[in-house]
Amino acid sequence: MGRSGAMSADEGIKELVEAARVAVGNAYAPYSRFAVGAAVRLTDGAVIVGANFENASYGLSLCAETVALAAANAQGRLADVEAIAVVGGQAAPVTPCGRCRQILSEAEQVAGRPIGIYCASPSGDSVVKHSVAELLPFAFGPSDLGLTSSRKSQE
Ligand code: THU
Repeated sequence: MGRSGAMSADEGIKELVEAARVAVGNAYAPYSRFAVGAAVRLTDGAVIVGANFENASYGLSLCAETVALAAANAQGRLADVEAIAVVGGQAAPVTPCGRCRQILSEAEQVAGRPIGIYCASPSGDSVVKHSVAELLPFAFGPSDLGLTSSRKSQE
């Protein structure tokens, strides 16, 4: 499997994409009608899902990836994130927005390992793998604040 580009999804990724596909059904997207689901996989194989959660005050809407990562954090598992699948939209694989890229960058920094980002078409048939470094080069992070790390273990 390459660092990016089209790939034939291995079983673990297929399952993760399927979990994200199920989460699409829980999207609350009455304004955009653009339903998105995300599924985060942890190092022990546990899967935590999220779906977009829109608001009548449009700018307050939360993306599926952010919801899933916040849920992982709420379970004390942010450091265990190893992959995320994102599914939704219309035809092409949906890729994380700028805010989600920044949040993924924070999660990757906390996890201390590269997070595989698997972007899938609504059917789940087409999956493209990306990395945080590729989606958000020159990311702003803890080092820009003079911190070597924001990991809890380093507190
Ligand atoms: N959205 C996500 O949840 N994830 C993405 O990767 C792209 C966009 C949501 C935000 C908003 O609710 C809707 O899709 C349309 O932008």
